[in-house]
Amino acid sequence: MSEQEHADDTESVTAATSEKLVELAKRRGYFFQSSGAYGGVGGFYTFGPQGAALKGNVEDAWRDRFAVAEGNMEIDAPTIMPEPVFEASGHLDGFDDMLVECPECGESHRADHVVEDNTEYEDAESLPIPEVEEVIAEYELVCPSCGAGLAGQAVETFNLMFATNIGPGDSDPGYMRPETAQGIFVEFPRLKEYARNQLPFGVTQIGRAYRNEISPRRSIIRTREFTQAELEYFIDPETDEPDLESVEDVEVTLYPASEQNAEDGDEIRTTIGDAVEDGIISSPWVAYFLGVAKPWYDAVGVDMDRFRFRQHLSGEQAHYASDCWDAESEIDGNWIEMSGFAYRGDYDLSKHGEHSDDRFTIFKQYDEPKTVERATVDPDMSYLGPEFGGDAQAVVQKLEDLAARDRSAFDGDAVEIDLEGETHEIPVEKTGFAVEEQTEAGEHITPHVIEPSFGVDRLVYTVLHHAYREDEVADEERTYLELEPEVAPTFVGVFPLQNDDELEAQANEIVADLREVGLSVTYDDSGNIGRRYRRQDEVGTPFCVTVDYETVENEETTVTVRERDTTDQKRLPVDDLAETLSAIREGDLEFDEL
Ligand code: GLY
Repeated sequence: MSEQEHADDTESVTAATSEKLVELAKRRGYFFQSSGAYGGVGGFYTFGPQGAALKGNVEDAWRDRFAVAEGNMEIDAPTIMPEPVFEASGHLDGFDDMLVECPECGESHRADHVVEDNTEYEDAESLPIPEVEEVIAEYELVCPSCGAGLAGQAVETFNLMFATNIGPGDSDPGYMRPETAQGIFVEFPRLKEYARNQLPFGVTQIGRAYRNEISPRRSIIRTREFTQAELEYFIDPETDEPDLESVEDVEVTLYPASEQNAEDGDEIRTTIGDAVEDGIISSPWVAYFLGVAKPWYDAVGVDMDRFRFRQHLSGEQAHYASDCWDAESEIDGNWIEMSGFAYRGDYDLSKHGEHSDDRFTIFKQYDEPKTVERATVDPDMSYLGPEFGGDAQAVVQKLEDLAARDRSAFDGDAVEIDLEGETHEIPVEKTGFAVEEQTEAGEHITPHVIEPSFGVDRLVYTVLHHAYREDEVADEERTYLELEPEVAPTFVGVFPLQNDDELEAQANEIVADLREVGLSVTYDDSGNIGRRYRRQDEVGTPFCVTVDYETVENEETTVTVRERDTTDQKRLPVDDLAETLSAIREGDLEFDEL
């Protein structure tokens, strides 16, 4: 039966949903701007009791799918890392946004956002800086804060990393990691040992990352401190292949770069298998992870009619990526990025190999040992020492590299090397150059990396936004969150119908039983029953259990169980309650089957 007359047609959610959602999120303990007592600070949010539980459930679901079910390892690395890590990774030089400062009010804005919000340009981030300055002037764009003209203002690059000092003084700079990924890459020399030096293998990490955004905006969608769930999957590009068959029938909506660039380009509906066969997704590994991700997003509550994968345009790629597809969700008519699936190649491991003293390769055994010719040097140090002094060792390194790279350089009487911009000639007879036959069991290769990288906060926002509903119950407006039982922060509310010792004692016993089987339960005895239902509807609690006089007076102890979305109610025996609700939570039973 229905709690009260339930209006069938749920009102379509409009562009104002985000405003209402942000208000609901604060009122019901999902999220709110942090440090409010001190005026708040842009780009930092606190997840309240419901939000922290929802986020935790989403992270658990991610861990189950991308770590446990895929057989990957999980690590937990520090959030502050020393400067050389980011010199190697390229973040120190290349992790910039475009900044334009208002000449009147002094406010800083992201220049590409100012352009995108006020012109037909959709991807201003990929434009060179002089072009962005021209567009600002041509369109006479103004400061979003005070309305002053921005034409003629210089657009500058701004590094997004938060800098700090490690220990006293400033001799040891460090940075808050801008992506959890680097915590995985720098530990590769140890992680490969745990993987017994066998490719492929994957390493995941769920943790905080930090970006000093010029203009954080849209509540928890663009913040300065956020949570990432990242998988770095290491492969041998020559031999490893994904299990594409397991995802080939997954239906996807794709928006490839070619369609974005075409005048009448459009999204393509296809399957993962066909997308690879038709060359729309060039990397089968990227395609595999898109195929894994789509049903996962569906399961945690992203509306599949408001979901797509969009390929990055060439100017939009991160400095480490050779191809990247984003999972995007539609929010109030805009598409927002929830995750990126990047082919990072050997970029990161090669860079850390070059910059550090450790080895970022894997030894790949040949099926049969091979006999190969190797060019080697054994320089005469009694010549190099007096000739080059403190640089002698660097000269040896140069000679070794040259022999490995170009043995013909040693054909003449002298060999040329370049040392700090100066060319030096060294007699070949002093280099100990020789070509030897060697038997080798294998070779060191640098693995390639495929990275599914999920923004947890943005996903939480999407899940809430896509779950937001308004309807009418018994001529009264109702707001509820149609959250999936798997992620709902509170699974069941338990209420005594009235303030009565017997009803309260029975309700408390039920709370204890349900908590014992691991369900998240809230007890509420304040206000009338309709108001208590509304509170739980707004939180998105899938079920409410009411203990009434029938419960305590009848021979068989039963309670009313009310389902959030339909407001349908059923009477169920208390003895089976924990088992029944657990089965529903696990997806093994539907409420209307009862
Ligand atoms: N690791 C990818 C990103 O942070 O965007």
